[in-house]
Amino acid sequence: MTSPHSQESRRRVTTRELVAMKERGERIAILTCYDHLFARLLDASGVDVVLVGDSLGQVILGYDSTLPVTLEAMIHHASAVRRGVTHALVVVDLPFLSYQVSDEEALRSAGRIMKETGAEAVKLEGGDEAAVSRVQALVRAGIPVMGHLGLTPQSVHSFGGYGVRGREPEEATRLRRQAAALEEAGCFAIVLELMPTGLARDVSQSLRIPTIGIGAGPDCDGQVLVLPDMLGLNEGFEPRFLRRFGALGPAVHEAVDAYVEAVRERTYPDASESYDG
Ligand code: KIV
Repeated sequence: MTSPHSQESRRRVTTRELVAMKERGERIAILTCYDHLFARLLDASGVDVVLVGDSLGQVILGYDSTLPVTLEAMIHHASAVRRGVTHALVVVDLPFLSYQVSDEEALRSAGRIMKETGAEAVKLEGGDEAAVSRVQALVRAGIPVMGHLGLTPQSVHSFGGYGVRGREPEEATRLRRQAAALEEAGCFAIVLELMPTGLARDVSQSLRIPTIGIGAGPDCDGQVLVLPDMLGLNEGFEPRFLRRFGALGPAVHEAVDAYVEAVRERTYPDASESYDG
């Protein structure tokens, strides 16, 4: 049996491979990432896709939404991530206002991401006519696109918060229609964020391309989590869907407390940690 850490056993993940995984009934594991150090760790552990999400704005840059994130910031972080990944597919979020205005602007923004970071795909939010038109334009230019429906955080102010989407029959019907339209437009996968399990299951079963859930129940074709959240680094953030697979926050506190104490008590560095002559 091959270990997930055995690099030789793994080929580079492609967008086609993700669709084939759905056909074979294999689940797709995705994590967000924003820097080179964690990119290497995630890639070595065997995630299928590394998503440079615009959650960057909140979890790394300290903004209270994703709206202030710039294309330059996404390119800066995505380049660092890409340099640390040799097997996973790297997908980069198009940030707010880098694609909403026109197909041309979307193409320019996505083109910069592809040229300047080396990523293999971009992600954009929404499924209305304009979003479908953007997807068609990018796919025509040879840029693979991941869609994103349900809670689309760039629209937080029109939703009025970060609540579950698609509970009302009318919105559920619209989301089903939008998922079909994004597939038709050429998306290779669609993130379904914060929606009822039954709706996410219906959408997943109706599409040929994989759905990737976050707070959308167990029946999506894959799952994505925000890395600092699942590692337990983002203390105080406790939505229902979040499982903490690690407790790095407390581990960091413990290590830093021990370091501060050792420096203050002059026990670090000792002779074995110092140089002679
Ligand atoms: O920006 C992000 O991290 C995302 C994921 C939550 C899907 O879009």
